[in-house]
Amino acid sequence: MDIDLKGFISPGSEEERLVQQLDLSRLPRHVAVIMDGNGRWAEKRRKPRIEGHRAGAKAVQEIVESCARLGVKFLTLYAFSRENWKRPKKEVALLWRLLEDYLRKQDKDLIKNKIRVMVIGRREEIPESTEKELERVEAMTRGFDRLTIVLALNYSGRTEIVDAVKKILQDGDLDSARLDEEAFARHLYTVGIPDPDLLIRTSGEIRVSNFLLWQIAYSEIWITPVFWPDFRRRDILQALVDFQKRERRFGAVHARPSEGV
Ligand code: IPE
Ligand code: IPE
Ligand code: MG
Repeated sequence: MDIDLKGFISPGSEEERLVQQLDLSRLPRHVAVIMDGNGRWAEKRRKPRIEGHRAGAKAVQEIVESCARLGVKFLTLYAFSRENWKRPKKEVALLWRLLEDYLRKQDKDLIKNKIRVMVIGRREEIPESTEKELERVEAMTRGFDRLTIVLALNYSGRTEIVDAVKKILQDGDLDSARLDEEAFARHLYTVGIPDPDLLIRTSGEIRVSNFLLWQIAYSEIWITPVFWPDFRRRDILQALVDFQKRERRFGAVHARPSEGV
């Protein structure tokens, strides 16, 4: 596994204490995050909501770096839901622009750290200039696999399931006798990506908001009151430590060592 903590954790810090509690051979392979609370972070500071989104975009960096260094293989970030189009036009436009700006600045880091970027969501409804930028970054990083960042953009779990059914009907090569969970999952946006082991939601809301409905069937859920812009490496480390204390039973009676994490 690809673990590189040099210069990342300062001696005597809370982060160091947390890393010492971690079993680095049993980390989740896939962490999915509902990055929530940007607006409330800004309101608390009497700033416009967009300042919260700006601060939120900055927070992404530290979590990406943490996952890459620790050896988490997939990090899915819920950045824009299909329902988020209901927000004021100005906020929506700024959100897409922020994402574009973010992507433009990432090239060097993505290449240096061998990070792949993928997108899940209804692609055809993503603003054209953002979609172009996404396609560029996806193509540029296609060969990397140290960490894969999966950006959930214009994403809706229910839409994903409907789109899968559409694909199956359109392809016409899968009859009901051969349709099982595995065959169905091959038609989801997440084909080839393992299900999340750990689902994190920030800002204290206890709901899934239409995120990865199929894939989180057996994910461990971890919720923190911290608003996304304040989420730092100590928070992700705490989530990982708590995750390792859970017993994942998958419906069985005892923990099955063969399941790994
Ligand atoms: C999450 O923060 C970012 C997006 C949904 C794009 P919010 O903007 O939902 O922040 P709150 O929930 O209003 O505080
Ligand atoms: C979920 O947050 C979507 C993202 C984080 C992108 P929302 O703020 O949109 O969810 P609700 O409306 O509180 O359920
Ligand atoms: Mg919210």
